[in-house]
Amino acid sequence: MTRHLITSAIPYINGIKHLGNLVGSQLPADLFARYQRARGNEVLFLCATDEHGTPAELAAAKAGKPVDDFCTEMHEVQAEIARGFGLSFDHFGRSSSPQNHALTQHLAGRLADADLIYEVSEKQVYSNADGRFLPDRYIEGTCPNCGYDSARGDQCENCTKQLDPTDLIDPRSAVSGSTDLEVRETKHLYLRQSALSEQLDTWIDSKHDWPILTTSIAKKWLHDGDGLRDRGITRDLDWGIPVKNGDKDWPGMEGKVFYVWFDAPIEYIACAGEWAEANGKTDADWERWWRTDRGADDVRYTQFMGKDNVPFHTLSFPATIIGSGEDWKLVDYIKSFNYLNYDGGQFSTSKGRGVFMDQALSILPADYWRWWLLSHAPESSDSEFTWDNFQTSVNKDLADVLGNFVSRVTKFCRSKFGETVPEGGEYGPTELALIDDLTTKIHAYEGHMEAMEVRKSAQALRAIWVAGNEYLQNAAPWTTFKTDPETAAMTVRLSLNLIRLYAVLSAPFIPTASQSLMDAMHTDHDLWPDDVTGALEVLKSGHEFEVPEVTFRKITDDERDEWQIKFSGTRD
Ligand code: 2FM
Ligand code: ZN
Repeated sequence: MTRHLITSAIPYINGIKHLGNLVGSQLPADLFARYQRARGNEVLFLCATDEHGTPAELAAAKAGKPVDDFCTEMHEVQAEIARGFGLSFDHFGRSSSPQNHALTQHLAGRLADADLIYEVSEKQVYSNADGRFLPDRYIEGTCPNCGYDSARGDQCENCTKQLDPTDLIDPRSAVSGSTDLEVRETKHLYLRQSALSEQLDTWIDSKHDWPILTTSIAKKWLHDGDGLRDRGITRDLDWGIPVKNGDKDWPGMEGKVFYVWFDAPIEYIACAGEWAEANGKTDADWERWWRTDRGADDVRYTQFMGKDNVPFHTLSFPATIIGSGEDWKLVDYIKSFNYLNYDGGQFSTSKGRGVFMDQALSILPADYWRWWLLSHAPESSDSEFTWDNFQTSVNKDLADVLGNFVSRVTKFCRSKFGETVPEGGEYGPTELALIDDLTTKIHAYEGHMEAMEVRKSAQALRAIWVAGNEYLQNAAPWTTFKTDPETAAMTVRLSLNLIRLYAVLSAPFIPTASQSLMDAMHTDHDLWPDDVTGALEVLKSGHEFEVPEVTFRKITDDERDEWQIKFSGTRD
């Protein structure tokens, strides 16, 4: 049994996430977590809300609420939507937790002790109209790299380049829109990432199996221009983790907080502590996942994220971990994603463009979305959501292939043999060939799932569904029943067992529908099929079942057109 620590990039608290955010981190992480649990492995799957920094402050100000109240409310909103999508986190934590405060301050202290933090007196943009400094997202302007006119002070969402507020062309305050800005001196702490550059480079070189998308971004940061730059890890903001050295004050840093990107990844660790606390466990229980000196040596740690998050996870967070000199677990595999676009443009949280998670659930159950998003995951390149493609994929894959198989088998059985599994004769050559074929196809599916090849996994699963359909079509029990009811009964027995097998295999992709199929088959036997022959004998003759409600319905042309119009504008 392997122990899998799995984290998804933690979503900003500032609003409900769109489907592009979902497919780039939380959803594929859930797919992998569910699969590894189904294979009998021990899994700790963690996610949290990213509650500090300018995104939180700006959103709270817009909502007219104190930022801590806003975060508490939005955390619950995001947690509820995550449950709606079937995201099976073992814990959904908060980066504002006491655990993260303590650990962030502790690690900063360790880094300072190792001479990896230094103080810089630097120039920051100050807004006279707002009476405050404008770090990160408090300032907007034109990206010096790609010319995008709504780049933020920390990063351009168009070309992913990390920026400093002073890099922006034609800057303006994101709070008031004021251009009455000046540059003032302020003191900040910097993490000496450059000193760890070689160690990071060697570490990344040792990751031969990482996706090119991940390593190429990391290498670019390590080697472009002057090499890896040191990074400011504090900000002039009110909301965040106060700058301290462990539990001691940090002279000169009073009133400042750590930069959100310093404390957010530390929440991956702190979240395990929150999980332990919420479940009545001990420190040793979470440390065995995170401390290599306390049992985490044999843990396999996988992170999921969109490509804009890669520099922080391949360089900045590992620099924190390595620089601390403590025995924290480093990530083993980083699965990163390109962007999902929406109907000819970009999904955008700030512009409210696209379909957001709550809206998606308001029109169709989660599994419809899970299937489309995962089977079209933006792995090798950006991909695009169109309503036409969504309709086609749902109708063909889910309704015609899987749903139709279930419906035909169960309804035919009910009409000829009643709602119990019939006996029938021995398997013939067609059944033996099907078992061989399924064995091969299931191995292919397992291989892709292990490798986190999300699209290929979806295709492999679909091929398994298709094999059952083709078998049923060829065996045609509705015809053989007239002359050879024994054989028809055997076909139906095998096919009813296939429904249970499909429920088990499909659960990582479509967990709710899979559970409904298990319920309809009156079984909770959900062991992964190591042996297909055995797996097709779980439901014995005489076992009762019921014809399930429609497993997946089709999306009509009218609905497709209506939704396309409904979601063509921007959300308020
Ligand atoms: O891009 C984002 O949504 C960030 N909130 C991700 C943070 S991931 C990590 F560092 F915790
Ligand atoms: Zn840009």
